[in-house]
Amino acid sequence: MKIVFVGYMGSGKTTIGKLLAKKLKISFLDLDEVIEERLEDSISNIFNGKGEIFFRKKEHEYLNDVLSQKNNFILSTGGGTPCYSGNMDTMLELADYVFYLKISIPGLVKRLILEKEHRPLIKNIDDGDLPEFIGKHLFERNNFYLKANHIIECDNKDPEALVAEIQGLLA
Ligand code: S3P
Repeated sequence: MKIVFVGYMGSGKTTIGKLLAKKLKISFLDLDEVIEERLEDSISNIFNGKGEIFFRKKEHEYLNDVLSQKNNFILSTGGGTPCYSGNMDTMLELADYVFYLKISIPGLVKRLILEKEHRPLIKNIDDGDLPEFIGKHLFERNNFYLKANHIIECDNKDPEALVAEIQGLLA
């Protein structure tokens, strides 16, 4: 089974993906980690040194590599992955399930204020400006996220409950 998680930065894709992979006993992959390993550099450095367009090209290339492998996996993507280069359609075509982990703007703000540093797109945004930035950004990205096979409402639910909910949706 090939399962992909999409959602905004800080929506819990990695946490939920890892937990589900453990439950299902299949391997877990994080696309940001794949990019960092293959380019031997951090996401922040790649953004700073080579720029976002270079990052998006590599993200697209490695996503296709991961999706084309024969083995089962759970993949957590980056917040922007579904929004570029037809990636969302490719994921829908090649994976068995694409789950969108949906969180409210206040929920995202609360999480992201604490973990802005390693995220190049929000690192330089003042805490007070985050709600407006995230709101606008989500508005643009929602068109892609909402194409997922299942939309999981994540506010006020703990990871175990979310994993149980997702497991209930797997055939
Ligand atoms: C990005 C999200 C990040 C990472 C990169 C760009 C985005 O991943 O891929 O910083 O465009 O939203 P996370 O969603 O895991 O933070």
